[in-house]
Amino acid sequence: MALRFAWAFLWVSSFPSARAEVRSFALPDFPIVYVIYTPGGVPQARAVVAPSEPCPKLKALAGAQGLLKESGNVSLRAVGSQHMPHRFPVKVCQVQLPTNVPAGTLVFGRPLPRISAQPIKTLLLGDTGLRVKAKNDGTCLHPGPKKLYGIKQCQASAIIPFNASLVSGSFQNLSEWHLKAQMDAAASDKPDLVVHVGDYFYRQGPCPQNKPCTAINNASFPHLPGAWGDNWNGWYADFFAPSLSLLSKAPWIVLRGNHERCDRGGGGYFLFLDPRNYPNTVAGGEFCVDYTDPYTVPFAKEQFLVMDTAMVDDVDVDDVCPTGALEQFQIFPSNRLEDPDQDMTREEILEQVERYRQQFKEMAEMKQLGLSNFLLSHHPMFGFKCNQGAYESAEWTLQQALGRNTLEGISATIHGHFHFFQLTQLAGLPPHFIVGNGGTMLRRYDSLAQGATGMDMVLPWTTVKVRDAFTKSVFGYSSLLGRDNYIFTAFQRNQKGQEQSMWNTSFTRAQMGRSLREAAASQAAPPIFV
Ligand SMILES: *[C@@H]1O[C@H](CO)[C@@H](O)[C@H](O)[C@H]1NC(C)=O
Ligand SMILES: *[C@@H]1O[C@H](CO)[C@@H](O)[C@H](O)[C@H]1NC(C)=O
Ligand SMILES: *[C@@H]1O[C@H](CO)[C@@H](O)[C@H](O)[C@H]1NC(C)=O
Ligand SMILES: *[C@@H]1O[C@H](CO)[C@@H](O)[C@H](O)[C@H]1NC(C)=O
Ligand SMILES: *[C@@H]1O[C@H](CO)[C@@H](O)[C@H](O)[C@H]1NC(C)=O
Repeated sequence: MALRFAWAFLWVSSFPSARAEVRSFALPDFPIVYVIYTPGGVPQARAVVAPSEPCPKLKALAGAQGLLKESGNVSLRAVGSQHMPHRFPVKVCQVQLPTNVPAGTLVFGRPLPRISAQPIKTLLLGDTGLRVKAKNDGTCLHPGPKKLYGIKQCQASAIIPFNASLVSGSFQNLSEWHLKAQMDAAASDKPDLVVHVGDYFYRQGPCPQNKPCTAINNASFPHLPGAWGDNWNGWYADFFAPSLSLLSKAPWIVLRGNHERCDRGGGGYFLFLDPRNYPNTVAGGEFCVDYTDPYTVPFAKEQFLVMDTAMVDDVDVDDVCPTGALEQFQIFPSNRLEDPDQDMTREEILEQVERYRQQFKEMAEMKQLGLSNFLLSHHPMFGFKCNQGAYESAEWTLQQALGRNTLEGISATIHGHFHFFQLTQLAGLPPHFIVGNGGTMLRRYDSLAQGATGMDMVLPWTTVKVRDAFTKSVFGYSSLLGRDNYIFTAFQRNQKGQEQSMWNTSFTRAQMGRSLREAAASQAAPPIFV
């Protein structure tokens, strides 16, 4: 807390005209209107307006007045904080909607998208923001120890004139961030539903002056937020501005990723996207908690089970894939307990595993056998990546937490976090998709294509064969089409900027996953117990 106040003081005193600063980048097209599903599947419209404006009224076209009776009352969600670091000079309003709304019949500041209780086309995407994460922006001898938006700051005594050889971190070329074009293409695909698997916010700090992302900086005040940070400037640039078309076309299910942790983009996430109510004791943007409960979004034929895995930590890998003839037969996860670089203690890690184990248990109770159940979480459970010339599976934390029956009756699981598209099909378990190729800097993993197929994935209770795998590091989004019988298609952006199908698979509800024990038995592999 002390740290926050120190920054708030410094920043407020250096913002002579806060409003001018917001306007200097782009004038937001208020009201910004979108619809998200809340726990239990009730759609809720939100409208972001200027703080001085009243909340819009919910209106119906002539002939559609009945929809108003099925809707809730408009309420104020939050008025954004006026203070850095979580300055959001906006007001967020919300209203509960019916589960079936024809296109354009309801207006909440703008016409609302069609809402269908029987979606046929669902678009899936994730990991969308512009990657700007400096370890050193070239003007600091020794960054730290204070952090802002997860980035180590420079003490006044350590600031030096720019020195290019000190620059380190991860910086995406702004010309290679095609998010708006992709969102527009997805919008023209006319989805009934959109699922964003998390990680919206990637601009954690300013761009070093020799990198191709400097347009996000405020040229006159390089250390004050230009279009970056967990504040309105950062969220508008990284998420809202490029996503307006898709937000206007369909209701969304929104997941939380590790980029929306409290020390990164959590302020904006809870203000704008979290599906629960906002506490009325806190200024907008200043509320954040580490963990939230799982919930369901049921439809006529499907049900989505949503889990918040924002706090899961990875084990870092070097991304070096196998070359030549492969000598690997088993694929293990990277164990956090054996990793010296973890931020949490052993006890904290085990406590976290237990917390997610409870969440998986709760989700198992939420499954509905008459429906296709899709499990959604930001972090994958069975994805794989490369380390020191071998395949490793991810994520250890969630694998430890899985119950024997977690995946029984699940039709598919959908995730993000790794910045590529990947399918992993384990014998007897539901297809496992990673759709983390939404726009942020890709993880270059093309050599992985069919990798790991035929190997045994070693899980805490058993080993399961990898029947099929496909990985591609290209920008795009995916679609889930159908009811009971589904076609899953991954689209990729081609040279002309068009989205074309690059891979697909089909599956039926009847093929849903089995328990881990049955999955293991089905391939006659002796179960191992770790
Ligand atoms: C940079 O920030 C200052 C202080 O908030 C503001 O007055 C100025 O307009 C901004 N300049 C640009 C180019 O955004
Ligand atoms: C909306 O407000 C009216 C009048 O205050 C109240 O009677 C009604 O119960 C409210 N509806 C909901 C869904 O809260
Ligand atoms: C820039 O940083 C490098 C690496 O620390 C150092 O060797 C070099 O002397 C610095 N250059 C200047 C002009 O300070
Ligand atoms: C940034 O991307 C553009 C378009 O691909 C390219 O022309 C330019 O050279 C890139 N800049 C750098 C510094 O890599
Ligand atoms: C799925 O892939 C097959 C074979 O590559 C192709 O013929 C078909 O058009 C694809 N279907 C969709 C819906 O993209």
